[in-house]
Amino acid sequence: MTMQAASTEITSRTAAIIDEMKGLEGPLLPILHSIQEEFGHVPKDALPVIADGLNLSRAEVHGVVSFYHDFRAHPAGRHVLKLCQAEACQSMGSDAVAAKVKQLLGIDFHETTRDGSVTLEPVYCLGLCACSPSAMLDGEVIGRLDDEKIEEIVAEVRS
Ligand code: FES
Repeated sequence: MTMQAASTEITSRTAAIIDEMKGLEGPLLPILHSIQEEFGHVPKDALPVIADGLNLSRAEVHGVVSFYHDFRAHPAGRHVLKLCQAEACQSMGSDAVAAKVKQLLGIDFHETTRDGSVTLEPVYCLGLCACSPSAMLDGEVIGRLDDEKIEEIVAEVRS
């Protein structure tokens, strides 16, 4: 698909989602979630369409997208690894876990490895505090992260 065609596709799908959902109370977040579901991220080209459709300024829409960690500005890798950085996990060494994962993958939070295999994101409590430090790989929670588990996870996303 050419860039022009991709951009037209984004605009028309975004407009259709807005049409479907703009009657909801507080429609911005549900619309952004649907767009992310559709494209795997919230494309830059969708932002002005949302702003026009909901009568908001582009700055307002952009502010909401960047405030919520759930929204991605770029397509994710084949795997998405989320590391819990909330309090209970912090107290059980999530900083060291994050440092190790970042070093093994060679990326920081909110980045995707160059081969497109994995996107690394922070998350704030997975409801698995009793088994902290915890993570989520492609929607599945993993508790009690230690060096061995980290290496297994990294090997899995790399394979
Ligand atoms: S703080 Fe990490 S799972 Fe709750």
